[in-house]
Amino acid sequence: MAVSTDIEIRAFDAPLGAEVIGLDLGVPLSDEAFARIHRAHLDHHVLVFRDQRITPEQHIAFSRRFGPLQIHVLRQFQLAGYPEMLIVSNIKENGQPIGLGDAGHFWHSDLSYKEQPSLGSLLHAQELPAEGGDTLFSNVHRVWEELPATLRKRIEGLRAEHTYLARYAELQQRNPWRPNLTAEQVAEVKPVVQPVVRTHPETGRKALFVSEHFTTRIVDLPEDESADLLRELFTYIPRSEYVYRHQWRDHDLVFWDNRSVQHLAAGCPDHLRRKLYRTTVEGDTPF
Ligand code: SIN
Repeated sequence: MAVSTDIEIRAFDAPLGAEVIGLDLGVPLSDEAFARIHRAHLDHHVLVFRDQRITPEQHIAFSRRFGPLQIHVLRQFQLAGYPEMLIVSNIKENGQPIGLGDAGHFWHSDLSYKEQPSLGSLLHAQELPAEGGDTLFSNVHRVWEELPATLRKRIEGLRAEHTYLARYAELQQRNPWRPNLTAEQVAEVKPVVQPVVRTHPETGRKALFVSEHFTTRIVDLPEDESADLLRELFTYIPRSEYVYRHQWRDHDLVFWDNRSVQHLAAGCPDHLRRKLYRTTVEGDTPF
């Protein structure tokens, strides 16, 4: 069994992220190894575990060490027999999509539209395209910390609405395979109000917490002012000084902290197959 003394955490030369070397996620984590990974996750925000030849059960077991798992509203795209596992894929079988092909098309923090958004997400590569398919991560602590002082002063204390439906119709127009939601599914994703700047519950660091995917408006401002302010804030997130671009390798598992980063799937040519499995760990109510 791997023990923490065998584990090396190698930080990337990037605004966030580290590779974890010497850990087989197929083996139950010792408490010591868990503590090491937990600390590294808080420090680096995105952890990359290479060459993990693990089963869905092992992926789920590792994810559960960090908290209860969430079930995505698009139940159509669960891995059969594993409700906690969302298939992220552009593959179609018998004309039907096997997974959520355009997950991550816009910058976002996972499940920010829930009262208790995801603490973290764990994405495991199953099948990768020969070209494209990268995932970009932006360090939203740094975004907040480096905003102009006047802007920081203006947004601190404001609240914004997040909804799963914010861009659903637009995505459906681009990708007609996206299913219509049932009344039950719509009821499951009622809009929520979140702080525009959240505090990480474990490190105390603040982070920008509005996203182009799920944030519709700042509830404390008139509509046009809110739209202008959100548009301005969104411009900071993709700036290269905050972004790490992950180029996937076979069997990578990437574990990110949704309280510290936002992410974007860069996409790949339609004719190339891409399939990954994702779990999300439930976090706290943002404050
Ligand atoms: C996601 O938003 O979780 C998917 C990211 C990806 O497919 O790269």
